[in-house]
Amino acid sequence: MAVVLTARELTRHYEVSRGLFKGHATVRALNGVSFELEAGKTLAVVGESGCGKSTLARALTLIEEPSSGSLQIAGTEVKGASKTERKQLRRDVQMVFQSPYASLNPRQKIGDQLAEPLLINTSLSKAERREKVQKMMEQVGLRPEHYQRYPHMFSGGQRQRIALARAMMLQPKVLVADEPTSALDVSIQAQVLNLFMDLQKEFNTAYVFISHNLAVVRHVADQVLVMYLGRPVEMGPKEDIYDKPLHPYTQALLSATPAIHPDPLKPKIRIAGELPNPLNPPDGCAFHKRCPHATERCAAEVPVLRQVSSRQVACHYAEQFL
Ligand SMILES: Nc1ncnc2c1ncn2[C@@H]1O[C@H](COP(=O)(O)OP(=O)(O)OP(=O)(O)O)[C@@H](O)[C@H]1O
Ligand code: SF4
Ligand SMILES: [Mg+2]
Repeated sequence: MAVVLTARELTRHYEVSRGLFKGHATVRALNGVSFELEAGKTLAVVGESGCGKSTLARALTLIEEPSSGSLQIAGTEVKGASKTERKQLRRDVQMVFQSPYASLNPRQKIGDQLAEPLLINTSLSKAERREKVQKMMEQVGLRPEHYQRYPHMFSGGQRQRIALARAMMLQPKVLVADEPTSALDVSIQAQVLNLFMDLQKEFNTAYVFISHNLAVVRHVADQVLVMYLGRPVEMGPKEDIYDKPLHPYTQALLSATPAIHPDPLKPKIRIAGELPNPLNPPDGCAFHKRCPHATERCAAEVPVLRQVSSRQVACHYAEQFL
């Protein structure tokens, strides 16, 4: 299988003001993320609010430059890419946001919005574009008469179908979806998730699927990347991570997840203690103040991400949990 997305030690830092006369501080929103993703596979990214998921999404979709590290999309290194290569890269990686309003123009008819990427990027005739749009509309469960309608005339679930259709119009190599179903009713979520999976099969697209809902992730993921304070703490095959999480943070996340009928609208996962201040992260393991297994070593020494059994884990004691 072809690798279509390679991230190596990606970082993204933000300079923020500490307030008048206090100077600046650095938020390490993304602090060294590496992975490879194959065509047709899904990497799910999970972790609490503020752990860097959307920052990663913005780096992968070229919305923001990483501070350091490298990113290859369909074999092309993003850093130093020529103008023409960049244009192609922007076609190859598309994004679906939590709110479909972020990707849809409220004042443009749906059909025209779906045709727009074809108009900009291909030399197809008007009739050919229309045909392609109608085929895609059918694939995402919209009727031909919807072509002339505006976004506000659709339900939330339908709007997310339209946003997905728009992202898929140019058959991107990679689709990054940032919490694409978390604003939808539970009853609609499963349908939209199934649509994501159907289109993935149809076009062999690689997905980076961001969600704080571990029940959703279980449904869609092949690989899972668990993040904490900008760093990966565990990454590996979904089955292994759900069967036997090796990082205490993954263990805590999973134990906080209802097994059946999860409520996706419930507040974000809570784990004992507070998430550390990202401007002033603790020494040693960033999780040590909340970890039931922490020792003195954990407070002093940063655990490196390393191979343990079938996955990578950043915990000094990962083997104990095998
Ligand atoms: N433009 C910015 N300037 C300064 N800090 C930022 C900026 N964007 C994000 N951050 C900080 O970076 C960290 C990661 O934020 P990010 O939005 O990536 O988290 P997230 O995992 O997507 O959270 P959520 O689940 O709430 O969407 C947070 O501490 C956030 O405050
Ligand atoms: S390194 Fe220590 S504090 Fe960090 S997760 Fe492992 S046991 Fe817990
Ligand atoms: Mg986010």
